[in-house]
Amino acid sequence: MSSILIVGAGIVGQATGKGFARKGHSVDYVDVDSAKVNQLNQQGLFAMLPDQVNWDRYDIVMLTVSTPSVDGRVKLDYIEAAALNVGRGLATSDKFVVVVVRSTVPPTTTEQRILPLLEKASGKRAGIGFGLAMNPEFLRQRSNVEDFERPWITVLGTSERLTADILGDLYKPFGSLMVNCTPTEAEMIKYVNNIYNAVKISYFNEVHAICENLGIDSKIVGATVARSAESMWNPLYGTRGGVPYGGTCLPKDTVGFMAFCEDMGLDHGMLKATIAANEHLAKEVAPVAWLDEVEPSVNKVHSLPISQAAYTAQPA
Ligand SMILES: NC(=O)c1ccc[n+]([C@@H]2O[C@H](COP(=O)([O-])OP(=O)(O)OC[C@H]3O[C@@H](n4cnc5c(N)ncnc54)[C@H](O)[C@@H]3O)[C@@H](O)[C@H]2O)c1
Repeated sequence: MSSILIVGAGIVGQATGKGFARKGHSVDYVDVDSAKVNQLNQQGLFAMLPDQVNWDRYDIVMLTVSTPSVDGRVKLDYIEAAALNVGRGLATSDKFVVVVVRSTVPPTTTEQRILPLLEKASGKRAGIGFGLAMNPEFLRQRSNVEDFERPWITVLGTSERLTADILGDLYKPFGSLMVNCTPTEAEMIKYVNNIYNAVKISYFNEVHAICENLGIDSKIVGATVARSAESMWNPLYGTRGGVPYGGTCLPKDTVGFMAFCEDMGLDHGMLKATIAANEHLAKEVAPVAWLDEVEPSVNKVHSLPISQAAYTAQPA
């Protein structure tokens, strides 16, 4: 069993900490908010302020502090302050502590901003004196306890084997699909995951508005397309990247439906952007009809189906 310190005892920190505690690990919390620290201690948990941590106690430190968007930019001040404190703590520990970035951060943050901070403050080298990983959080806010118990996917972004093995052992009892990748890939996966969800929602909102205008029931349309469209049920369809759609139907029907909407005075901004993006790419790359058969030019791990890749991929 591991001794885990959760840094940032908010929604994600508590869901993560309580989930690991239920699996028998020893979990403590640290937060800058003294009211939250008191509240957790009153619940019978062990929480403290940053200057009260005995760093020798912990095997794994998870950073779950807030990374809000302020004026449209991701504010990394909180996670950097937390990482600085963790780095100072690592300097006082004799253990190979694994530091895990679990907050949502822009690609390259773990390797280019958190790693140098930890190395400078600890006087140790990542991968030798301590481990560093990016392990994004996929819990849904309203069901985070159940989702932590039964995750559908675990993404472990690491740069060396020992850290990947320690976290692999930690997550194995949860039994989910496990994807091993680099920290930067893990950061990108988290953003693309959320943005893809946002794109899908906005797309069906536009469809809904068009349906309303035409007197069509958008519920039957959405519910049916959720089962009829190959891009909904085939994980390989359209997810390989770098190749525009072609064939007999998609180019003809996208352009045709766009013209129909314009003639009817209906707005369909996402379709317009889709056609423009496809035409732009088609100037460089030949369009393809069978999008699930596209062989990407990237490394062999990514040319495997996702289920196979997830079980065989090893950290770089
Ligand atoms: N809430 C969600 O459902 C959800 C889901 C997926 C990912 N995330 C991501 O997880 C991260 C945490 O989100 P959250 O909703 O739990 O945030 P939150 O605001 O609920 O909690 C963050 C906690 O971090 C503490 N904190 C700030 N600076 C600190 C420091 N230097 N040291 C120690 N503690 C510090 C705050 O006091 C607060 O208690 C964010 O990056 C968020 O984008 C959140």
